[in-house]
Amino acid sequence: MNVFITGVSSGLGRALTNEFLTERHKVWGVARRKIEAWDNDGRLTSNGSFRFSVCDVSVMADAERVRAQMKEAGFVPDIVVLNAGVMENDLDGTFSYDVFKKTYAINLFGAVAWLDLFLPVFVERDGGTFVAISSLSSYRGLNNKKIAYSGSKAALSMTFECMRLQMTPSKVRFVTVNPGGMSPDESRTGLLKIHYKSAAQKIVRRLASPGLNGVFDFPFLNAFISKTMRFLPDFLVSRIVKRCAGS
Ligand SMILES: NC(=O)c1ccc[n+]([C@@H]2O[C@H](COP(=O)([O-])OP(=O)(O)OC[C@H]3O[C@@H](n4cnc5c(N)ncnc54)[C@H](OP(=O)(O)O)[C@@H]3O)[C@@H](O)[C@H]2O)c1
Repeated sequence: MNVFITGVSSGLGRALTNEFLTERHKVWGVARRKIEAWDNDGRLTSNGSFRFSVCDVSVMADAERVRAQMKEAGFVPDIVVLNAGVMENDLDGTFSYDVFKKTYAINLFGAVAWLDLFLPVFVERDGGTFVAISSLSSYRGLNNKKIAYSGSKAALSMTFECMRLQMTPSKVRFVTVNPGGMSPDESRTGLLKIHYKSAAQKIVRRLASPGLNGVFDFPFLNAFISKTMRFLPDFLVSRIVKRCAGS
């Protein structure tokens, strides 16, 4: 299958690229940083099944240029993974409207832009899978010093929920993935945090199941805690967030 992934230059996007390539899919990736080839730990040195375009997903003209490149190359995606995202502090001493706006521009509009570009293609052939890499943070605003992040992910998740509900019975799938903490460092993983490679393997495995068209949360314990937090009062959650930030 042909897979399009945003944000492939590091982290989960890079791990997903390697995973899809291992499964013998073709991948077209985008990111702002140019990647020629990944080194020893990152794999992918030169792979004929991988194409890359420099692209800032928050700039629609950039996305349209990449779409045109793909069209010219005859690359029609079967799976579109909207992974590019930022998680910067916008409440660090003072509130930063610039960081707030940038977070939404990348995490929400930088994802929805690709829905706009590929939905007509998927609808026309009545098939295709959109994957939103959202976050367990979409359930509760638990990230210290971050205001826009949870909201941008919640809006992305709700966009996918509305699509799922309103595009029925079309065969276009809208899968929302809510990872908890992820890390490139194996020694910092555990029940609450997962390695990028394991996260990518879980996602690729779940996407292979044809019935999947909904929400996929992981790791289990982290997901359970995040969802339970929705039922706790703000004053209690605020104490927990501050205590965790201080530790
Ligand atoms: N890490 C976690 O614990 C965690 C938990 C839950 C959800 N998530 C979500 O998972 C996704 C991947 O996170 P990650 O941990 O892999 O982060 P990461 O290592 O910082 O990777 C983010 C990727 O997005 C790309 N990106 C950022 N802004 C972009 C833009 N304007 N245009 C194009 N590409 C852009 C980056 O590439 P360039 O900088 O080269 O553009 C990079 O390849 C994000 O959506 C994040 O919110 C992460």
